[in-house]
Amino acid sequence: MRTNHKIIFGDSAKVLRTFPDNIFQLMVTSPPYWNVRDYRHEKQIGLNDSLQEYLDKLNEVWKEVVRTLMPDGKIALNIGNIYYTEPDENRRTTANLSYLLWKQLDDFEELRYMGTIYWRKTTSRSGAVLFGSYPYPSNFMISSAVEPIHVFRKLGKRKVTQEIKEKSKITLKEFREFRDAIWDINGVNDKHVAAYPIELPARFIKMFTFVWDLVLDPFVGSGSTTKAALELGRSSVGIDINPDFLKIIEEKVGMKQKRLNDEAEFEVLHFHEKAPKLISK
Ligand SMILES: C[S@@+](CC[C@H](N)C(=O)[O-])C[C@H]1O[C@@H](n2cnc3c(N)ncnc32)[C@H](O)[C@@H]1O
Repeated sequence: MRTNHKIIFGDSAKVLRTFPDNIFQLMVTSPPYWNVRDYRHEKQIGLNDSLQEYLDKLNEVWKEVVRTLMPDGKIALNIGNIYYTEPDENRRTTANLSYLLWKQLDDFEELRYMGTIYWRKTTSRSGAVLFGSYPYPSNFMISSAVEPIHVFRKLGKRKVTQEIKEKSKITLKEFREFRDAIWDINGVNDKHVAAYPIELPARFIKMFTFVWDLVLDPFVGSGSTTKAALELGRSSVGIDINPDFLKIIEEKVGMKQKRLNDEAEFEVLHFHEKAPKLISK
């Protein structure tokens, strides 16, 4: 069976409002950070927002994610903490984004918290900025080289045929590795400023979906989630605010590559603010 992959450019909450209820089996994403990264788009979430504005905007996205998730659908949310400096202070404070976003999801009546996986980035540890008062006590800075990924499920049940289950089996080795609370996975150097390794969404897709399920990434960036879904025979919807990322996505996902039996189809859509609807250009 063919899989379908939509890449949609527009504001995530607005794009998701055009989708019906209960259609995704998994949302896996790393949302924009607050206050550190520039994704080079005037409507991006996070860069010029106060912490409260940032949280409010993300919450609009989570509302749509919860609505469009199927009963027993899962959420895997990857977010690291960031450092910032309070006005009139020259020392850094940590913004506990990981806790704040966990709390947002935990507040949804429809969701149940399943646990947290800690992604230990075995490379890309930037020790250089963490010297604090070195070599002296006492301004020791705590590294955020471990990023939590919170996992939630939506209440309800779903039925899957034995045939589909058989096609979606995972090995014992994978099973053991995935249920561990700490995952050692190398970080990536990517054309996109904040890409995660494909291994990350791939593990959640294997853990929480069956073949031909539909996976959502509301902040798809360079298309890592799309690529993982494609390779694992799942369909996907990836949304991002910045259409300039299309080239990076096309390259990473291999959208223009000829495939055997045309087993995957791709659509690139844009959110039309005034209509409001999705259009292909
Ligand atoms: C941390 S990055 C995601 C990277 C992605 N996981 C990858 O592997 O490439 C966050 C993404 O959110 C996007 N973004 C920011 N504000 C957005 C909004 N309002 N709607 C949709 N996407 C947005 C940014 O453009 C950026 O690509």
